[in-house]
Amino acid sequence: MSAYQKEYQLAQTAPEEFWKQQANKIAWFKFPQTILSQDEQGIDRWFADGELNTAYLALDHHVEQGRGDQTALIYDSPVTGQKARYTYRVLRDQVAKTAGMLASLGVSKGDRVVIYMPMIPEAAMAMLACARLGAIHSVVFGGFAPNELAVRIEDAEPKVIMTASCGVEINKVLPYKPLVDKAIMDSRWKPDHVVVHQRKQCLADLNQERDKDWSALLRTATPHDCVPVLATDPLYILYTSGTTGKPKGVVRDNGGHAVAMNYSMSTIYDVEPGDVYWAASDVGWVVGHSYIVYAPLIYGCTTIMYEGKPVRTPDPGAFWRVCQEYGVKALFSAPTAFRAIKKEDPEGEHLKQYPMPSLKTIFMAGERLDPPTLEWVQSKTGRPVVDHWWQTETGWAIAGNPIGLENFAIKPGSATKPIPGYLVEVLNEVGEPQKASEQGYIAIKRPLPPGCLPTVWRNHDRFESGYLSQFPGYYVSGDGGYIDEDGYLFVMGRIDDVINVAGHRLSTGEMEEVVGGHEAVAECAVIGIHDDLKGQLPLGLVVLKDGYVSEDGVIENELLQKVRQEIGAVACFKRALIVDRLPKTRSGKILRRVIRQIADGEQYVVPSTIDDPSSLQEIERVLE
Ligand code: COA
Ligand code: AMP
Repeated sequence: MSAYQKEYQLAQTAPEEFWKQQANKIAWFKFPQTILSQDEQGIDRWFADGELNTAYLALDHHVEQGRGDQTALIYDSPVTGQKARYTYRVLRDQVAKTAGMLASLGVSKGDRVVIYMPMIPEAAMAMLACARLGAIHSVVFGGFAPNELAVRIEDAEPKVIMTASCGVEINKVLPYKPLVDKAIMDSRWKPDHVVVHQRKQCLADLNQERDKDWSALLRTATPHDCVPVLATDPLYILYTSGTTGKPKGVVRDNGGHAVAMNYSMSTIYDVEPGDVYWAASDVGWVVGHSYIVYAPLIYGCTTIMYEGKPVRTPDPGAFWRVCQEYGVKALFSAPTAFRAIKKEDPEGEHLKQYPMPSLKTIFMAGERLDPPTLEWVQSKTGRPVVDHWWQTETGWAIAGNPIGLENFAIKPGSATKPIPGYLVEVLNEVGEPQKASEQGYIAIKRPLPPGCLPTVWRNHDRFESGYLSQFPGYYVSGDGGYIDEDGYLFVMGRIDDVINVAGHRLSTGEMEEVVGGHEAVAECAVIGIHDDLKGQLPLGLVVLKDGYVSEDGVIENELLQKVRQEIGAVACFKRALIVDRLPKTRSGKILRRVIRQIADGEQYVVPSTIDDPSSLQEIERVLE
């Protein structure tokens, strides 16, 4: 039996034994006696009576073990021209003081802190400082508009918001403080304090009693110790798009998360403590939580916070420059980033300047890895490319090529094999397993392994109804696909209203709510259509109320602006078309799938349930 088969089988047949072995690899304050149990809501919980502190694992423990002088975090910011390095000791001390600063503002175990920050070291310090106190952080991606921030503030009810005076994108400085002020104004929940890290690119006005200057507070802060928490206490809430307008607060616990993060670094990424590991993502996304901050630090690697893009900062050699400069061993980003590089440097001329001797493997996730991108990256870099499939909900990969255990031959288009701990099955409409290569709902048999969400923040019903109730005994991923004769998993895309734009997860349902909120709109459909660079882009089809006419595209433009203002630029909602009617079934359901097929130029079958077949001709006409 191969190492992979052994681990997979043990995790399947004796999960408690398997995960106890893995739990033994991290430094608990109190090792759990109970490995797997169920909580009062019948949800599987890992290590329920174990006690630990995630910031201790990520920092203090390494200093105690002699890793204090190793670089823990590298900051590289081509958009500001800044670079910095923090050793484990320095980072621990900074985090301890940041925790002290939060404690002085009244934050303690179980309190929530919203973090709305760009890709600067203080964002990681803020997250780790919360973890140190046992407080629960909720990071909100900087590309989201005030309305999105307000929704999250209202749901998480934070005592404090931590932010920076601005974000810096290519050739533009984006002031954050006015966005935070607006979000708080629009939210029914008001935090006690807003702590602002002032950046020299743009200083924020701290004009209210509640506003605090980060560095002034930090100067006088007393370092705070790590507060022991239960394994099942939440470490963070991360909001993600679902099928409705309201994002879901995915809850991550401390114990299962730490064990899973540690396990994934050797099994999936095949790195050693001391290696340089770089996830080119953003702390606002789950990839940033797991693989910029927590996993590399828990495992003793050097992590990189890169404030830049794959292209135009300053050129498409940016990723390769970072890999060369810091000796990156494992690089992880979304396929869209590599498509952007390929578009601007198809022959890989920039790549030739950087031999990158340390770079061993390139990992991709966030959206389906299309075979042409896989082929291009492999041939140009000469490095193996590993596609792996995961979600905000799971926090780490469900399927991938577990090269730390066994290096499977890859099949383009497949995320390879399920990772030990995940029992992946493909089910039909009524929950029966599909035969090999038959498409269906990708589901994971319960119990989910450590690290996966135990609930949705303050909305357990949503967890049950959104993930568990469709097929009893399973977690439904929301993705469709199949497993072939060799056990390879092919993830073909979402079966709900979630789309992936440049590796960013967005809800078309939410965009429809925003578009539908315009006074001229009678009804609308937003669908995700194929885009060569970003994977998918949203497209809106809109029916106007009687009496409204859009002259020179005025209404269309207003709709684009509305989505930009209410969701954010990151939604990339750049196309809205006005139609007389939307194609629907006789029962009134909009035929989104058919619209998408028409937009993508695919063959489609006119559904027998269609109400008015001529409505499809109109869609064909406007999309021509
Ligand atoms: N703060 C504020 N605004 C942001 C932002 C942030 N953190 N991130 C993106 N935006 C804005 C951009 O400035 C842009 O605004 P614009 O419409 O005014 O130009 C808009 O949101 C869209 O951004 P993006 O989708 O990133 O487009 P881009 O053209 O700037 O870059 C890529 C395209 C492919 C290079 C970029 O999306 C990328 O690097 N993607 C990788 C994604 C990733 O890391 N995903 C995480 C999962 S691994
Ligand atoms: P997020 O929660 O933002 O990480 O997005 C999760 C979704 O992204 C998944 O449900 C998939 O639809 C998609 N996704 C992530 N990784 C992959 C992958 N390797 N292959 C195909 N789809 C992916």
